[in-house]
Amino acid sequence: MCLPKHIAIIMDGNGRWASERGLPRQEGHRQGVKILKKIIKKTSELGIKYLTVYAFSTENWKRPDHEVNFLMKLMERTMASETDELISNKIKINFIGRRDCLAKELKEKIKDVEKSSRKNDRLTLNIAFNYGGRAEIIDAVKNVIDNDLQADNISEDVFSKYLYQPDLPDVELLIRTGGDKRISNFLLWQLAYAEMFFSDKYWPDFSADDLQNAVTDFCNRERRFGGLKNAGDN
Ligand code: FPP
Repeated sequence: MCLPKHIAIIMDGNGRWASERGLPRQEGHRQGVKILKKIIKKTSELGIKYLTVYAFSTENWKRPDHEVNFLMKLMERTMASETDELISNKIKINFIGRRDCLAKELKEKIKDVEKSSRKNDRLTLNIAFNYGGRAEIIDAVKNVIDNDLQADNISEDVFSKYLYQPDLPDVELLIRTGGDKRISNFLLWQLAYAEMFFSDKYWPDFSADDLQNAVTDFCNRERRFGGLKNAGDN
């Protein structure tokens, strides 16, 4: 059976979803969390092993203070209300991103949830928070230097062990909602051979059926990884 091993999602369009309804942008983010819960459930039911979602980028600090504060609080509140259920559903929760500038309470919650879910193996949910793809590569380079690795010993496999999640497999399917067709500094290393699926729907309108459609579309694609079609036939 065809299934992508690792799906990554750029959940875009919360603000526009809210504005079009005459609601404050916060309402779009709140609705976004509800949809995320449904998509996690569907991903887990399909048997997909890794899901990485972009919840807050290193660039999102440029938003007005009140929106940044709201997103930080929303993450804290969502963790308080949802992680028990995720953990009881055998979901392992990891955070990727720079943690140093997050609030102390949030950092502690992140540590706790990672610890209490670490033995779960049904689905690994990575929450990219204060995450940037370039920042991750820079942090990995610093890590390599701090560990005194010699140039001759560095390969792609070795380097990937210094990323935020050393055992994270490459993304096979990237989904972006909200109509834009760009990567926005998400998982630059892990997306090297990903198939891209762009949806015009705003994130709060994305459904479990839409996820299923994206997976079906992925399964109908021919992936060559730089090789040739039916290369073994010649
Ligand atoms: C993009 O929509 C969305 C975000 C920057 C945040 C994504 C967060 C969630 C879906 C909620 C889950 C996250 C937490 C914190 C629990 P946008 O605001 O860029 O929408 P726009 O492009 O329409 O303005």
